[in-house]
Amino acid sequence: MPLPHAALEVTMPHDSPASPASPDLPAIPAAPLLRGRDLVSISDLTAGEVRAVFATAGAMKRDFAPYAGSLAGRTIIMLFEKPSLRTRVTFEVGPSRMGAHAMYYDHAAQRIGQRESVKDYAKNLERWVDCIVLRVFENRVVREMAQHARVPVVNALCDLEHPCQALADLFTLGEKLGTLAGARMAWLGDGNNVCHSLMLLCAKLGVDFTAITPKGFEPQFQIVRDALADARATGATITLSHSPEAAAGHQAVYTDCWMSMGQDHQAALRDGVFDRYQINEELMSRITGPGGEWPLFMHCLPAHRGQEVTDEVIDSDRSIVFDEAENRMWVQNALLWHMLGRG
Ligand code: CP
Ligand code: NVA
Repeated sequence: MPLPHAALEVTMPHDSPASPASPDLPAIPAAPLLRGRDLVSISDLTAGEVRAVFATAGAMKRDFAPYAGSLAGRTIIMLFEKPSLRTRVTFEVGPSRMGAHAMYYDHAAQRIGQRESVKDYAKNLERWVDCIVLRVFENRVVREMAQHARVPVVNALCDLEHPCQALADLFTLGEKLGTLAGARMAWLGDGNNVCHSLMLLCAKLGVDFTAITPKGFEPQFQIVRDALADARATGATITLSHSPEAAAGHQAVYTDCWMSMGQDHQAALRDGVFDRYQINEELMSRITGPGGEWPLFMHCLPAHRGQEVTDEVIDSDRSIVFDEAENRMWVQNALLWHMLGRG
């Protein structure tokens, strides 16, 4: 399908596997669908919009040329209160390849809203940039920025959600399985921000999701409630469990750190609580049965090897963690194209 953007010749830096066209995705959108929209929560997108973003991401991954230069003249600012490798690099490299200018503003020394209000930040930034990408401690800050800025605001991780991660993860699972129809994902560990976004997205896309956590570390009530509302419409099953055995029968098992950024003060509270949720060879064998094929292993990274996952699992041929990392870029590129592209 011809795209309205100038096609430039681009060379990708490595041979990434081509993204197969998935049978459950719509036709590749010819024009942006999310102009001026924010992504604060997975709940901001409909299932149809997610599938359109996935179709665009897959098209870009197969052939980037039609999209090179499609964000020419756009400026994206990243305001990050917390460290990052994947999010920062993918939000710099991806938009740069599309002709945009991506600026990184390290906000580790001072929280956004301290020197001047979040509202005044928004009212200044919207005069200069086309999109604000935020990584913050408090979800409230992303919501306030989105409320006051006329330009799109993207949540690049907060205490409550990590929507860009979940989008990349479900896109990756679809690539690996060929379809998300009938897919089942199990989460083991802390019911945290990544777990929340995955649960919401699985419910929206009709993917069964089982959150397996220790008592007291379950996903938050309002997230489960919102996921269940979507799951009723899509037929997805949302399950909460405290037993690692509940991961049996899922095509993918997912884990994350046992103490997220900003939770250092809870170190004593969390010590030892998660040990039996470690994803290791023994657990993989237990949930698949002797000689059975392990489920795919997923992790948002950074991984704490020897804690939530062992080397044998993360380095195994069932691990797709670096595909997830690569796809952060493709899915975010697609998202930005839909938000900012001229179409
Ligand atoms: N997964 C992820 O968001 O990684 P970073 O913290 O390195 O950005
Ligand atoms: N739950 C982790 C995710 C890091 C990408 C954190 O918030 O630190």
